[in-house]
Amino acid sequence: MEGINLTLEDFEKFADFIYRKTGIRFDQKKFYFLSKRIEKRMQELGITDPIAYLRRLKFGDKNGEELQNLVDLITINETYFFRDFPQLQAFAEYCLPELLKKKIKIGDDNLKIWSAGCSTGEEPYTISIILYEMLEDVNSWSIEILATDIDKEALRKAQEGIYEWRSVKHVPTEYIKKYFKIIKDKYKIKDEVKKLVKFEHLNLMDFLSLRKKRGFDFIFCRNVLIYFDEISRKKVVDHFYIALNKGGYIFLGSSESLARITNAFKIKKLGGHIVYTKE
Ligand SMILES: C[S@@+](CC[C@H](N)C(=O)[O-])C[C@H]1O[C@@H](n2cnc3c(N)ncnc32)[C@H](O)[C@@H]1O
Repeated sequence: MEGINLTLEDFEKFADFIYRKTGIRFDQKKFYFLSKRIEKRMQELGITDPIAYLRRLKFGDKNGEELQNLVDLITINETYFFRDFPQLQAFAEYCLPELLKKKIKIGDDNLKIWSAGCSTGEEPYTISIILYEMLEDVNSWSIEILATDIDKEALRKAQEGIYEWRSVKHVPTEYIKKYFKIIKDKYKIKDEVKKLVKFEHLNLMDFLSLRKKRGFDFIFCRNVLIYFDEISRKKVVDHFYIALNKGGYIFLGSSESLARITNAFKIKKLGGHIVYTKE
């Protein structure tokens, strides 16, 4: 269908609606990106009037299916295994051993980690590999890595666990051999890595569901909140604070900081790395 062209006014209306539903802020610089994706959905549905499509999203989408279709198109899913290596090193070599020591002392064998905004699964699987490498006996712990995302298509790929070279190119060679099965030119994550990870569909703006998340030792929410504005960032981080155990750590992306959002977390310097913990 030719000729669907969103005006700036239409764009603003959609951007506002998407922001309220997902926390993701599309400013005018993203006009082309967002408009093209909205137009694609409209074409697929045979709708020519943008306002009619918006109306459908708002009032004719009871089970949220169409919003989900649009969300799957507009999220940025860029990710790869062992992203931000120095931060993962701080997690593996300082935060994790410190926490495990405390747990062993009190006889607590639970370890709960949350990868919030896990995209296609590279982040939670990386965490799982790190646990296999760092824990003397993984099976003596009750481990759950909860991996959540708003994008259902990304979650489907995550559950499949089959990757291209560009996803695994930062994985140390010995880990490729140990934790992946190479099938032709694809890399399939092994079941032992998979079994520690539980995937779940979750919108970080769904505060009712967020409120139920408790008892985490580590929360990774890396390169997700950059797409949010300050107000929604703060709301999500406040929930993370509640979801985190005392002595637990939160990890954000390298370009993200808690500085302007909250001072609830304590900043610690471990082995030259800045980390945030709940006291
Ligand atoms: C750039 S990826 C980051 C993946 C991984 N954490 C990393 O750092 O490599 C951002 C992910 O955040 C997800 N996301 C965006 N808004 C979200 C929301 N409101 N709730 C849950 N996930 C969201 C996107 O679907 C996307 O998969």
